[in-house]
Amino acid sequence: KTLESRTVDGLAKYIKEGHAKRIVVMTGAGISTSAGIPDFRSPNTGLYANLARLNLPYAEAVFDISFFRENPTPFYTLAHELYPGKYRPTVTHSFIRLLHEKGLLLKLFTQNIDCLEREAGVPDESIIEAHGSFARQSCIDCKSPYPQEELKKQIEAKTIPRCHKSSCHGLVKPEIVFFGEQLPSAFFDNIDVPTEADLCIVLGTSLQVQPFASLPGACKSGVPRVLINMERVGGLGSRSDDVLLLGDCDAGVRKLAKAIGWEDELEDLWAQ
Ligand code: OAD
Repeated sequence: KTLESRTVDGLAKYIKEGHAKRIVVMTGAGISTSAGIPDFRSPNTGLYANLARLNLPYAEAVFDISFFRENPTPFYTLAHELYPGKYRPTVTHSFIRLLHEKGLLLKLFTQNIDCLEREAGVPDESIIEAHGSFARQSCIDCKSPYPQEELKKQIEAKTIPRCHKSSCHGLVKPEIVFFGEQLPSAFFDNIDVPTEADLCIVLGTSLQVQPFASLPGACKSGVPRVLINMERVGGLGSRSDDVLLLGDCDAGVRKLAKAIGWEDELEDLWAQ
C-alpha cells in the first residue's frame, strides 16, 4: 500500500485506514526547542553558536571525550543549564506518547538527552536513547556508577564530580555519548528495527551525526518516510513515498493529529 498523496491528508488517510501499525519515530533536539532547550546547529539560537563564553577550541569540543578529560568545566557549565527537571515535554513529545497509546509505536529512536520522552509517558522499553541520557552517570576511568542525587548536587553547586574510589578519583560523567565514544549497545541491538516499520516519522533533527543519520535509510522502499522539521535534511524527500512537512514540529503534529481525528486526545495528553 502506498500513499494516495504526499500531503498531511494523504498521510492521515494511510494511518486511519490501518496501513501504519508499526511506526518508527526518530527525533532530535528540534522537538525540545519549544520546551526552552536550545538545539545544537540552528544558526543563531543553537548551542554551538552560543558557546563562545566557554572558550572552546571548537563548539563540538564541549561533547568531546578527549577534550572533557583535559577540561570538564565547559561541559559541566552547560550541564548546569540543561539538567533535566526544569523543562516540560512539548506537544510533539505527547504525539509520540499518543502513537504508543494507540499501539502504533514500534520504536522511538532519540538523540536527545533531556529525558522528555519518558516524562511525556513514552515507556522505557519503546525508547532507544541513541546518545545516552542524564539518567545514569559513571567514572570515565574505572566505570563505577555514581549516585544520581550526588551528581545533581554537584551540578547545582557548580563543582566537578569525581569518582568516590580513592584509588581512582577519575572524572564522573553522565552517560551521554560524547564524540569519540561508542553508542549504547541498545542502539546496535535495535539497528534493524526500521526495516520492520510501515511508517517512519523523523522530527526535529538535522541528521548530521552518524550512525543515527543512517536510520531513515534503513526503512524499506515503499514505506512512507515523513519529515517534520524546519528544514529539509538527510536526503528525505528523495523517495517517491517521502512526505515533507516543513516548519515547526508542534504545528506539524497538530495538523496531522487533526487530519486523523486525534486532535482532542492529543491536547488532553499534553495538558496532563
Ligand atoms: P541539531 O541542532 O543538529 O538539529 C536540529 C534540527 O531541528 C534542525 O534541522 C532545526 O532546523 C530543527 N528544528 C529546530 N527547532 C525546530 C522546531 N521547533 N520544529 C521543527 N524543527 C526544528 O540537533 P540534532 O539533530 O539533535 O550529539 O543533533 C544531533 C546530535 O548532534 C546531538 O544528539 C548532539 C549533537 O552534537 C551529542 O551531543 C553526542
